Amino acid sequence: MPFPIHRLRRLRRTPGLRRLVTETRLHADDLVSPLFVAAEDNVRRPLQALPGVDLLSGRHLTEEARALEAAGVPAVLLFGVPLDSDKDDGATAAWDPRGCIPRAVRDLKRAAPGLVVITDLCLCEYTRNGHCGLLKNGEIDNDLTLEAIRKAAVAQAEAGADIVAPSGMMDGAVRAIRGALDGAGYDGVLTMPYSAKFASALYGPFKEATHSAPAESKHATHQLDVANARQALVEIGQDVEEGADIVIVKPALTSLDIIATARREFDVPVAAYNVSGEYNMILAAAGGDPQARNRLALEALTCIKRAGADLIITYFAREIAAALRTRTVL
Ligand code: PBG
Ligand code: ZN
Repeated sequence: MPFPIHRLRRLRRTPGLRRLVTETRLHADDLVSPLFVAAEDNVRRPLQALPGVDLLSGRHLTEEARALEAAGVPAVLLFGVPLDSDKDDGATAAWDPRGCIPRAVRDLKRAAPGLVVITDLCLCEYTRNGHCGLLKNGEIDNDLTLEAIRKAAVAQAEAGADIVAPSGMMDGAVRAIRGALDGAGYDGVLTMPYSAKFASALYGPFKEATHSAPAESKHATHQLDVANARQALVEIGQDVEEGADIVIVKPALTSLDIIATARREFDVPVAAYNVSGEYNMILAAAGGDPQARNRLALEALTCIKRAGADLIITYFAREIAAALRTRTVL
């Protein structure tokens, strides 16, 4: 109905009215915090590429997990940063039961049993060349890579991971992992693939932080072209059919259209990954002002939720969860 019968500003007149008509409410329960796990014992070392994020292991890792739990964050997503000397052409460290990730999972399950532990499942952290898959004749070989990630998935489940998150965009990865997990008796472990992962320049700080940037990138041969929305939806549909419990769209802020369509077309939970480059853009925009930083983060995360994300993976998880509790960003 047109003005003057309808005056939309009436809905915004007082804080109480605005609270009553809020459509999207970000909650700590929506957030997943990535954690970078060191290979060496008891490490807490700032990551230059991601200001405010530390490389952790041992008691520092479990302390961080307890702090996240206290802030109300329900889940963590683990990335391994193995020593260069443990990397090889076959990514064999990815399924070493004494590797940094299985060790970290066991530590976290002891220290914070209620925290959902998600493990990133890719080979790029473990291959000498930094590629997400195993090479055959100089190309990333899909099916050879599936064999390796099946083994890594079982090793992560054996250590106690609740969810494994294959991030390499290999065809058939979800079916392969589901089969391997079920075959090993882990039918209760969820798969959360990065189903729509775009070949993005926004992963730069992450690649630097994990020392997993390949000399010559082959990402375009497996990750989606940012120009392709329909293909992203085909990818999501395929993963859902293969048994994915939750699907990830990544990056988040450049994929709000994909998130919104995925929410409408599929009934599994949709996760969005607010990636390292998006994090750094907000830090840059805030220019060192912590309040501006929280306001910017809250705005970005709320809009990602508004687009349709059920959960959001973000480096802001701990701070924003704490701020939401005390309403200090409002
Ligand atoms: C792959 C992986 C990447 C990220 C998460 N998992 C890097 C890549 O695919 O190149 C990026 C996350 C971020 O930028 O925050 N293991
Ligand atoms: Zn990878």
